[in-house]
Amino acid sequence: MNHLLKMADLSGDEIIELLNLADQLKYEQKHGIKHPHLEGKTLGMIFQKASTRTRVSFEVGMYQLGGQALFLSGNDLQIGRGEPVEDTARVLSRYLDGIMIRTFKQQEVEDLANYGSIPIINGLTDYAHPCQVLADLMTIREFKGVLKGLKMCYIGDGNNMANSLIVGGLKCGMHVSVATPKGYEPAVTVIDFAKQFDCFTLTNSITEAVKDADVVITDVWTSMGQEHEAAKRRQDFKGFIIDQSLLKHAKPDAIVQHCLPAHKGEEIAADVFEAHAAEIFEEAENRMHAQKAVLVKLMG
Ligand code: CP
Ligand code: NVA
Repeated sequence: MNHLLKMADLSGDEIIELLNLADQLKYEQKHGIKHPHLEGKTLGMIFQKASTRTRVSFEVGMYQLGGQALFLSGNDLQIGRGEPVEDTARVLSRYLDGIMIRTFKQQEVEDLANYGSIPIINGLTDYAHPCQVLADLMTIREFKGVLKGLKMCYIGDGNNMANSLIVGGLKCGMHVSVATPKGYEPAVTVIDFAKQFDCFTLTNSITEAVKDADVVITDVWTSMGQEHEAAKRRQDFKGFIIDQSLLKHAKPDAIVQHCLPAHKGEEIAADVFEAHAAEIFEEAENRMHAQKAVLVKLMG
């Protein structure tokens, strides 16, 4: 494992290994056991889009590991004025020990990895959000004890979260069902991968997808960069909401996950969000623990 660009780059065993390390680091942090695995190391964090969780969890995570993080706004870097990614990658490789990047195109992240000589971590692109999905898997395992054999259901847009959950869930032996409105299906590469599995279903029916699910997940209807489509999306996604009546079709002890930020009343009802806040905010916390495992694995 040299980079974390997308879930497809990880094997099922590598995912489990990361989750085990994340559990251990969480335990150590909760019990005041120091774990300075990255003493003297610096992570650069390039942000071309907004962030609360990713920025803070990476920065604090690096600090807890004995290293430091640099916030680099895309607007302030020369990359924002057209300096090629391949040059930026070669320059930053000489100062930093790793780069986390949040941007639009997946290709930009792949280019950084190809041209640079340090580990690259995808902190969200339009295509993938692997750090979030590692945290989700960690949280599901924390609440349910296992991953293998559980049914994960994703309701909503076939976006970066859907793409990464499908690949991550299937690689961990989960049954994965996805319901999107017509025309908002996950990426073709992801569907082609998922088609190899009998335990994958893709439908337009939210009640069909959620039937007997152990985990019910959703994400915003309009992702960052799609704001100009928000009005159309509000029409097209009508009904794609996790509410109490939909959850009646899931297992009675189903947990709910949302990567946040949430638009309550759109993809998730406010009362469902509050009823499942324990799982949702544990998921947010686990971003930091899961990412620390990634950082130690790649930069340690
Ligand atoms: N879930 C997530 O990535 O949150 P931020 O956009 O706040 O980083
Ligand atoms: N799909 C959302 C996830 C935000 C964490 C987006 O890309 O905006």
